[in-house]
Amino acid sequence: MHIPLLLLPVLGALARASPIISRASSWPNAPFTTSGRDMKNSLDETVVYAGVNWPGAADVMIPEGLQYQSVSTIMSKIKDLGMNVIRLTYAIEMVDDIYEGVDSSLKTAFVQALGETNGTKVLKEVLTHNPTFTENTTRLEVFDAIAAEAHTQNIYVHLDNHVSKGEWCCSHTDGNAWFGDTYFNVANWKRGLAFMAKHAKSWPAFTSMSLRNELRTTANGTGDNWVSWYENMIPAADGINKANPSPLIFFSGLNYDTQLGTIVDGNDIGNGTSFALSDHAYADKIVWELHNYANSATNCGDIEGSLRNQGYNAMEGDSTAVNTAPVVLTEFGFDQNSGSESVYAQCIKKYLNTLPGGPGGWMQWVISGSYYIREGGQDKDETWGLLNHDWSDWRNQTATDYTKSFVDETLT
Ligand SMILES: *[C@@H]1O[C@H](CO)[C@@H](O)[C@H](O)[C@H]1NC(C)=O
Ligand SMILES: *[C@@H]1O[C@H](CO)[C@@H](O)[C@H](O)[C@H]1NC(C)=O
Ligand SMILES: *[C@@H]1O[C@H](CO)[C@@H](O)[C@H](O)[C@H]1NC(C)=O
Ligand SMILES: *[C@@H]1O[C@H](CO)[C@@H](O)[C@H](O)[C@H]1NC(C)=O
Ligand SMILES: *[C@@H]1O[C@H](CO)[C@@H](O)[C@H](O)[C@H]1NC(C)=O
Repeated sequence: MHIPLLLLPVLGALARASPIISRASSWPNAPFTTSGRDMKNSLDETVVYAGVNWPGAADVMIPEGLQYQSVSTIMSKIKDLGMNVIRLTYAIEMVDDIYEGVDSSLKTAFVQALGETNGTKVLKEVLTHNPTFTENTTRLEVFDAIAAEAHTQNIYVHLDNHVSKGEWCCSHTDGNAWFGDTYFNVANWKRGLAFMAKHAKSWPAFTSMSLRNELRTTANGTGDNWVSWYENMIPAADGINKANPSPLIFFSGLNYDTQLGTIVDGNDIGNGTSFALSDHAYADKIVWELHNYANSATNCGDIEGSLRNQGYNAMEGDSTAVNTAPVVLTEFGFDQNSGSESVYAQCIKKYLNTLPGGPGGWMQWVISGSYYIREGGQDKDETWGLLNHDWSDWRNQTATDYTKSFVDETLT
């Protein structure tokens, strides 16, 4: 929200006279809706997301970094960048365990994923840094604590279903790729989405959620087509809206969430049907999400051209965009040791911040300086992480300055 400088003294005086009606007290002014290519809060003000991914969908199924820092310290770091949202990722397996009555305590979660010795050690470190948790705190209660802290610090929570089976994402062969893949049970997925939508009603900072991260072909090359997308995504979105009508619902596309053009443009999905926003009672809750990792591009025009074809024509007010809704870049990122001055990083920033009609929302991959476990390796370093290995400081000041200026330009 941009307040003209001249008004600031007046607002200050008002706030002193009647602090109870100050706007900050009703943050986040949810539920959000959409209007054309913009997201709106309940005061009809445009809201643009500028934030970061906080992963919690790998083997332990607990948000990362808590063996090094407290929830509030990590949230403060995010706040220091001026960001206003976290994309908090979770695995459907976490919800399956709840339905199946499997012990989801921190103790069991860490020991199962890291083994007895390391699991016990890491659990102890988590409890040292986060003394309100005990070994019996559940995974979901950790998500609750993060959502509560997000509210305290006025950071919106966007909940992202990243995978079904909790593990590092994403490849064609990981079993989480497409509806019906080895671990991607469609009924459990829909149940999990509805469960999280309902559960998150108790989180005041909760404003939006996704259907699924990075759909893609399976190991044998099946999947990744619009008819199957439509058949699965629409009922799942219906289920979310029925469980909780408040959140915005983010629709991802094909091929690792790099294609939504067919849907945005209202083209035939392949069987004579076309997607139309107006077919859906909750049309003003639908948001498009895309990912971009064109890191090796040497020409910004090429990146812009792809983004436009992939669905960003909706943000440009182009008449080819029949189904105009906001588009949010929920993942992009680069190696913090080398990437911030690349054509890619500079281009993404410039493109999103200079879209006609105002900046587009984004979430950088990733806040994590390290992971409890990734692809079998424990305490794995993340060179793309904004934070360093022990989450105590920024990894690279030049890269952090890039992100900070990206936020500043998006939000002012
Ligand atoms: C325990 O964690 C360390 C890293 O902190 C790792 O090097 C080691 O392989 C792990 N042990 C087992 C048994 O996985
Ligand atoms: C966790 O639960 C177990 C089993 O109910 C109990 O014995 C233990 O004291 C609890 N630990 C804490 C720290 O509350
Ligand atoms: C391909 O893989 C999918 C998902 O793992 C599976 O459901 C399907 O039966 C497989 N198809 C063939 C032809 O092997
Ligand atoms: C095309 O497929 C979708 C998804 O299964 C279905 O909802 C729709 O009715 C189909 N269209 C036609 C014309 O059969
Ligand atoms: C930080 O990032 C900049 C820009 O990419 C790079 O030139 C520099 O070498 C990096 N510094 C370190 C310590 O990695």
